[in-house]
Amino acid sequence: MTNIIDDLTRIVSAAFEECGYDKCLGAVSVSDRLDLCQFQCNGAFAGAKQYRKAPFMIAEEVVEKISGNEIFRTVEMVKPGFINITLNDEAILNKAKEISSDINLGIPQADKRETIVLDYGGANVAKPLHIGHLRSAIIGESLKRIARAMGNKVISDVHLGDWGLQIGLVIAELSERNPDWVCFSPDFDPDKDKVNPINVDELNEIYPFASQKSKSDEAFKEKARAVTAELQSGHKGYIAVWKEIMRVSVKDLKENYGKLYVDFDLWYGESDADKYVDELIDILNKKGLMYESDGAMVVDVEEETDKAAVPPVIIKKSDNSNIYATTDLATIIQRQKDYAPDRIWYVVDKRQGLHFTQVFRCAKKAGIIPENTELAHLGIGTMNGKDGKPYKTRDGGVMRLSDLLDTVIEAAYNKMSDENFESDDEKREAAQKVAIAAVKFGDLSNHITKDYIFDIDKFLSFEGKTGTYLIYTVTRINSILRNLGINEKEPLALSGVYSDIERELLLNIILSGEAFKHALAERAPSVICDNAYRLASLFSTFYHDNHIMGETDKEKQSTWISLCILVRKLLLKHLDVLGIKAVERM
Ligand code: ARG
Repeated sequence: MTNIIDDLTRIVSAAFEECGYDKCLGAVSVSDRLDLCQFQCNGAFAGAKQYRKAPFMIAEEVVEKISGNEIFRTVEMVKPGFINITLNDEAILNKAKEISSDINLGIPQADKRETIVLDYGGANVAKPLHIGHLRSAIIGESLKRIARAMGNKVISDVHLGDWGLQIGLVIAELSERNPDWVCFSPDFDPDKDKVNPINVDELNEIYPFASQKSKSDEAFKEKARAVTAELQSGHKGYIAVWKEIMRVSVKDLKENYGKLYVDFDLWYGESDADKYVDELIDILNKKGLMYESDGAMVVDVEEETDKAAVPPVIIKKSDNSNIYATTDLATIIQRQKDYAPDRIWYVVDKRQGLHFTQVFRCAKKAGIIPENTELAHLGIGTMNGKDGKPYKTRDGGVMRLSDLLDTVIEAAYNKMSDENFESDDEKREAAQKVAIAAVKFGDLSNHITKDYIFDIDKFLSFEGKTGTYLIYTVTRINSILRNLGINEKEPLALSGVYSDIERELLLNIILSGEAFKHALAERAPSVICDNAYRLASLFSTFYHDNHIMGETDKEKQSTWISLCILVRKLLLKHLDVLGIKAVERM
């Protein structure tokens, strides 16, 4: 189906053309003065310059051409040259009906289906998932769903940090604690010898311990570095423990991401890029881009227009080990080979901006990705505590994601009253979903680059712009429909518009597709949050003003019920692309 803005633009453009003007002048937008009109076209102003004519004269001619169209209640020229448009109710209702029977619920579909590789999550193996990774997971998951809802092909990749120094630290510490393990013996044979199992609690304890130790113990730090380099060059015993660490850690990560309704098509890690490193080095050498500097191999990526210094990107360190940039470049080779994507988006902390600038420039210079493929770092802000500093545990440590979620789930559980549920299990399950909604919406409603304050009480409020309020609105609709014994499958009976608030609500419904368009174009899930909140609050006013259950005029009542059904469908769609699950009651 077509969206209303496009429909109107088509009509007004044709009129401009018929009057002898450029049809591009006919772009229609939503009015910013809804009290005056619903839509407007300001093309006469640009036309005035082009055709040396007063804008109001052009606008008048155009209005003259379209005023007979029956979808308009009013079209008028307003001096000095605006074209103000208001639709008649029937046109609004028809569009709303079209949306309700459209499989995409009026969400505009991409003209050209694009392939997008979305790199988010970015957890580090052997380190527990902490809140620093929360934003990337939440935002990436939502962008994936938005892009897919609009008909694009999206491949999500968690891109685990599984090949760096943190693994070396863990293996070094394991070898000091368990010198007798067969994988640490020089004659370890991966075909015959069994690796000693590691459990997840030990793994979670060992990294912070080893990391702390390396700060005071220079010899240990050196050892961890050596282990990392040997692991990367294929040391059999280290590879075997590494695989065991991966097995335990990835299982734990999957569980944790699962709790957030975050999932990935690819569970690749930095280690998977390893097989493309030689090819990368080869290309860089052949193009003469790489040179030695202080023992390391580097590539210049500075550009004349740089305002701040962009240092050369290091490809190989002096001990021949690969670093973060090496794996990111090699991963681009892999992604190009596997998917030839139109875009690769990295949802990563904005403080890594310089790293991505270096990597992207090097990739384009080396030609490992076509010039017109978009490489974009969608830099994200920090989640802060109420003190305005990065969120910490009470004792100042980094908070584990699972601990954070448990706290919010408990608070959600305590907030809801027992009588709304049929069983405690149902209440527990609802608390889980409400908590996730609160946390995710609290995050997504901020622009991705902005830092925000994590405030459980605010996020769990039933009022205001919160995820809790949104799913609460859905449960209110559920309860109306339940009480009336309505089957959702019944065809919509939208027969009239009985009040101004309904008209406003319907307008918002038919403009929701625009919100999706903007959200994707600006890579901003917050636009979806804004629109969902607007829908929910308009619905609340409508619900407050009208007594749906007691309405005796049957035609009116069915219209209102249909409106409830449509709003619910649309709200659920918004929630779905935000990665939020609704509940039956709360
Ligand atoms: N593991 C990294 C970190 O914790 C994030 C990875 C982001 N993705 C990427 N392709 N560099 O900082």
